[in-house]
Amino acid sequence: MPDQTRHDAWQAGETDERFMARWSRELAPRFIDWLNPLPGFEWLEVGCGSGALTEALLGLTVPVSVVAVDPSEDFLALARERITNPRASFRKGSAEALPVANTSCDAVGSGLVLDIVPDRAKALAEMRRVVRPRGLICFYVWDYPGGGVQFLRTFWSAATALDPQAADLGEDRRFPFCTQEGLTGLALAAGLTDVTCAPITIPTVFRDFADFWQPFALGTGPAAAYYAGLAPAARESLRQRLQDRLPIAEDGTITLEARAWAVQGISP
Ligand SMILES: C[S@@+](CC[C@H](N)C(=O)[O-])C[C@H]1O[C@@H](n2cnc3c(N)ncnc32)[C@H](O)[C@@H]1O
Repeated sequence: MPDQTRHDAWQAGETDERFMARWSRELAPRFIDWLNPLPGFEWLEVGCGSGALTEALLGLTVPVSVVAVDPSEDFLALARERITNPRASFRKGSAEALPVANTSCDAVGSGLVLDIVPDRAKALAEMRRVVRPRGLICFYVWDYPGGGVQFLRTFWSAATALDPQAADLGEDRRFPFCTQEGLTGLALAAGLTDVTCAPITIPTVFRDFADFWQPFALGTGPAAAYYAGLAPAARESLRQRLQDRLPIAEDGTITLEARAWAVQGISP
């Protein structure tokens, strides 16, 4: 399997936990704050992973139920282990073929998934199929094109300074539609009304440089794929450049920010 594809698989477990899941757990409650949905919904969640948004839905929206779907058995096993709330249930399935009946839920939500779904229009059409008339459809993705995920932007700036070809490999090039205009357009093209798209920013505080650097060796996605393909000397140059340029505080911590775009709309 080519490196890029292997690293796009978003594997469950410690790798994802240390690289991205710890930030998605900060983001999910902020998304619910912004959304401020009515209580008593039957929710469907698309691409639950290890359950960051599932937990936020259960803890913050007073739902009747949350059916959480993911294509990965590993992620589903992790989510089932972490979340034992009886209102939650987990099913294997993909965004483009949701394993639920037509008009069977009040709201559909998805966190950090639509960027990696190959057929986003089909995914939105599926969300419309399963939600009841006037139901809520909502999702969020990281603002990669706007450089909103500062730890990734810093990584790629350093990589590109050392290797200009790295400029073509970043998340901004892979996911160019993750902009306010691109995501609003996606929701409108799917026929949603009352569409709003807003930024949500979270602090990403790293304990020390190792806490910043080591996850690139473990993680998934374009940055981790690039790291994995570097020879040891190039890896060391990149590590040194980052260490020299990051805003490392006296206590060793590195405080950056990560921004996502959150979208909500109403199904006809
Ligand atoms: C970055 S993780 C996000 C997980 C979780 N929602 C969160 O916020 O932490 C992406 C998830 O999307 C899932 N996924 C990948 N392709 C998918 C598809 N076609 N349909 C639905 N989910 C998909 C992966 O298995 C993974 O669990």
